[in-house]
Amino acid sequence: MRKNIVAGNWKMNTLPKEGVELANGVAEGRKEVCDCVEIIVCPPYTHIAQVIEAVEGKNVKVGAQDCATEVKGAYTGEVSAEMIAALGCEYVILGHSERRQYYGETSETLNKKMARAFEFGLKPIYCVGENLEEREAGRHFEVCKQQIEEVVFNLTEEQFANTVIAYEPVWAIGTGKTATAGQAEEIHAYIREVLRSKFGAKAEECSILYGGSCKPSNAQEIFSKPNVDGGLIGGAALKAEDFLAIGKAF
Ligand code: PGA
Repeated sequence: MRKNIVAGNWKMNTLPKEGVELANGVAEGRKEVCDCVEIIVCPPYTHIAQVIEAVEGKNVKVGAQDCATEVKGAYTGEVSAEMIAALGCEYVILGHSERRQYYGETSETLNKKMARAFEFGLKPIYCVGENLEEREAGRHFEVCKQQIEEVVFNLTEEQFANTVIAYEPVWAIGTGKTATAGQAEEIHAYIREVLRSKFGAKAEECSILYGGSCKPSNAQEIFSKPNVDGGLIGGAALKAEDFLAIGKAF
């Protein structure tokens, strides 16, 4: 009833030529992955256009990794949601922990970015997740709940229907430490419960992705859990073969 999604977050990796090669590899191998899985790649802004061209007609969607809070104007260095949409992106990652941590993004910032995304027809992949200290203090449920309440609860029902959630424990990102399938399911089920308290039965249709050192060797077990609807993949998305192998985990 809800979509399975495997999305690659390339972060600040690949030069244009490498990105196009990676996209070609993903596009080539995509047919080996079930059509029941949506495959998304999120390259750096600099080569989104080339990547879109490379995957055209190959059933691979493209997203950006962020967008500006403002619509247009004197905001040096920013890239607007409208610009991203004009390139042909369907998705935009918002609230990634690296943005929250290194660039001070708050719920206030993210409410604006979410609004911009919807204004220009982009679907947000909204990231939540606790850091190690919060996990060790047993505050992971509370942290995720707050990140959802402060942003996702402000959406209309229609906007929510076009939103993907990614649960990414900060302690598992790029560390090689993965949440166990049980830990992932526990918090995904909780996140769905939080969503249900606001959006009712619509929460059943929302895809909740797991992210954090997800790789071919652990994807199948994690994706087998009822409330895990796919993955947001960092490191392993930089090799077409590994990324596609994760897609095949469904
Ligand atoms: P990772 O990153 O797979 O390299 O841990 C995931 C992410 O940050 O989206």
